[in-house]
Amino acid sequence: MLKIRAILSSFIVSLVLAAVGAFAQDAAIQEGHGIVVANIDRSVKPGDDFYRFANGEWIKRTEIPPDRSGVDVWTKLTDAQITMEDGTTTTLTDPELDLFFALLVVAGNETTRNAISKGLMAFMEHRDQWDRWIAHPELADTMVEEVLRYTSPVNFFRRTATADTELGGQHITAGQKVVLWYPSANRDEAEFGPTADDFDIGRVENHHVAFGGGGPHFCLGANLARLEIKMMFEELARRMPDIELAGPPARLRMNLVDAVKHLPVTFTPSPAEN
Ligand code: HEM
Repeated sequence: MLKIRAILSSFIVSLVLAAVGAFAQDAAIQEGHGIVVANIDRSVKPGDDFYRFANGEWIKRTEIPPDRSGVDVWTKLTDAQITMEDGTTTTLTDPELDLFFALLVVAGNETTRNAISKGLMAFMEHRDQWDRWIAHPELADTMVEEVLRYTSPVNFFRRTATADTELGGQHITAGQKVVLWYPSANRDEAEFGPTADDFDIGRVENHHVAFGGGGPHFCLGANLARLEIKMMFEELARRMPDIELAGPPARLRMNLVDAVKHLPVTFTPSPAEN
């Protein structure tokens, strides 16, 4: 059986970026806030091409119907009319659009990419679950939620308490900074019972918080992320059912997202498809 060795992360990056938009892979992305994205072209000054792209070149290149119906999320944002407290309307300013663009690209890239690569690691370390997935594609919905819970790609976000409160017996005073550890909550035995540490793609009652706890800042891209994870594992099961790890993953040194840089795998190539 011919098997080939491959590094998975770069084509996953391409897939996710393609889903966000026709954005070049060597894009320069802000390196502030401890966030580092792969494939940065260091000859480009961070921000330059990135924000120029955000500020119109993408839109000029895209064919937008005159009535602007069915357009992408970015065009909706640039078109958005915001009603201010005094009743006047305005649009998002260029710096606001720049930051929103950076948010969308980074939030939609570092997260799904690592959910997929770490999800594959989870499958490879629990081969029975991979075999179960191949035999039971109808488990897609619970599989996606379990990949999200088990991999929990965002490690933490910090929030500021707006009122005095008590959480888990801990008093929190208004104004205090609170760090939410999503992977910890996603392995909480009080919520998930004695199987909290298991990877079970048929898990029901899976109220994980990988996308946040459901407040006003709940992940904007949750459904896109779910679709990407579903499609990727459906295609991996179909095209590479004998995929195996071929060595340890290379991890990214980063505290915000639990990230995989390279994941060596072997698989038997299936015939090319048009
Ligand atoms: C597995 C994939 C993903 C995970 C684990 C994830 C996780 C999160 C988390 C934990 C938050 C904060 C929620 C809160 O504060 O309540 C968030 C917010 C956000 N996410 Fe995601 N995310 C993912 C994919 C995406 C994608 C694909 C996009 C867009 C393309 C996206 C865009 C955003 C945005 C714009 C926010 C801020 C929302 C706001 O502040 O109102 N995310 N995400």
